[in-house]
Amino acid sequence: MKVLIVGGGGREHAIARSLSLSPRVDKIYCAPGNAGIAALAECVPIGPMEFDKIAAFAREQAVDLVVVGMDDPLVGGITDVLEAEGIRVFGPRKDAAVIEGSKAFSKELMKKYHIPTAGYETFDDPESAKAYIRGLGKYPVVLKADGLALGKGVLICEDEEQALAGVAEIMEERRFGDAGNRLVVEEFLTGREVSVLSFVDGHTIRTMTSAQDHKRALDGDRGLNTGGMGTFSPSPFYTQEIDEICQRTIFQPTVDAMAAEGRLFKGIIFFGLMLTADGPRVLEYNARFGDPEAQVVLPRLKTDLVTVMEACIDGTLDRVPVEFEDNAAVCVVLASGGYPASYEKGKVIEGLDAFADVPDCYCFHAGTRFDGDGRIVTNGGRVLGVTAVGPDLKSARSRAYEAVKWVRFDQMMMRTDIGKAIDEA
Ligand code: AMP
Ligand code: GLY
Repeated sequence: MKVLIVGGGGREHAIARSLSLSPRVDKIYCAPGNAGIAALAECVPIGPMEFDKIAAFAREQAVDLVVVGMDDPLVGGITDVLEAEGIRVFGPRKDAAVIEGSKAFSKELMKKYHIPTAGYETFDDPESAKAYIRGLGKYPVVLKADGLALGKGVLICEDEEQALAGVAEIMEERRFGDAGNRLVVEEFLTGREVSVLSFVDGHTIRTMTSAQDHKRALDGDRGLNTGGMGTFSPSPFYTQEIDEICQRTIFQPTVDAMAAEGRLFKGIIFFGLMLTADGPRVLEYNARFGDPEAQVVLPRLKTDLVTVMEACIDGTLDRVPVEFEDNAAVCVVLASGGYPASYEKGKVIEGLDAFADVPDCYCFHAGTRFDGDGRIVTNGGRVLGVTAVGPDLKSARSRAYEAVKWVRFDQMMMRTDIGKAIDEA
C-alpha cells in the first residue's frame, strides 16, 4: 500500500512510525511532514489545507489511503473533498468532525443524548453573555470559544471581572477570530484529567489505552496553556471500574448519538475527560489523535495500524481486535524558549543520532526542518517529543528524562515534572 499522511507534527511522526511497521505498507508520503518524518516518508511540500493539491497528488501517485492527522483539515472538510475524487481517507467527514469543530454543537449533542458533561449555556452575542455572567454567583467559570483555536480558546475565570473581560476578548476583540462567533459558558469541574482515544467505524468503538497530558507551559501546572508539554500512558487513575462507566455512559452513547443525528463518525474520537467526585464527565471531544497523546499511545499499540484504520473506513471494526502492550510510556516535549508566546526558530539541533539504535526510546519531531546545509533546525514552538517505553510508568519516566539529555539546541525548554502524578497513584 501507498499511504499519504496529512500533517507535520509529532503526532504525524508517531503515526508514520506505526504505519512504517506494517508489512502491508510499502511507501509513505507526508504533506508537509518535517525533518524527522523524512526518515520514514517522502515529504511533499503541500500544506494541510490545500485539499485540491493533496487530491491531485494522491491521484498521481495512486495513493491507497490518506490518513489525516490534524484537526483543521478535518473540520474544513478534507475527507469529503478527497472522497469525492474516489480516494480512501481515514478521518471523519465534515459533518462528523464538527464534534471538535464546534463546542456549541458538542455540548448540545451531549445534552440531547444525556452524556455526562459540565453544565453550560451558549451565547451568540456578547451582551447576553455578559448579562448571564452578571447573574452568576459561582466561580471559577469556564469560557470557551465555539470554534478551533489551537487549543487556546478556553479561559478559566476566577471572578466576574475576569469573566466579563474574557467575553470581550473572545467575542468583541475576537482574539480567536471566527472561533469566537459563539461562546460556551461552562461550569468549572475539578478532578483528574484523562485522555481516552478511540477508533470508531460509525457504529463500533474500540478504545485505546488511556493517557494524561500536561497542558500548561511550566512546572507545577503554571504558565500559559499550550498544545501539550508531555504525556504518560496509561493513566493509573483510569481504573477498570471507571472504564466500564465511561464505555456505558459516554463512549458508545457518543457514537450512537452521532449515528442517530445522521453524522456517522468514522475515524478517531478523542475523549477529554474529567474524573470528578460525581463520576466521569466529558470536557471536550476531538476528532483526531491527540498531540502528544499519540506519542505515548501509538508506541504501545500491538495491532497493525493500517488494518484498524481500514476497518474503521469499511465499518468492520467489530471483527478487528485492538491490542496494546502491557507496558507504559512517557513523552517529554522539548520546546523553544518562550513557547507558547513568541519564540525563535532556526536553532541547530544536536545529538539526534543518539536515538538511532535505542529500541525503547523515540525522538518524535514536532517542529523541525532541514536548513540549507542539511542540518536539522528548530521550526516551531514544540520541537521534539522524547518518548521512552518501559515495563512501568516510573521506569519509562526515568528513561525519558535520561534521553532528553542526549539532545540540545539553543533556548531549549521543557517541563521537569511530566508524570509527577504517577507518584500519587
Ligand atoms: P479543552 O480545550 O476543552 O480541553 O480545555 C482546555 C483545558 O481547560 C482542559 O484540558 C481543562 O484543563 C480545562 N477545562 C476545560 N473545561 C473545563 C471545565 N469545565 N472545568 C474545569 N476545567 C476545564
Ligand atoms: N494534547 C491535546 C490535544 O491534542 O488536543
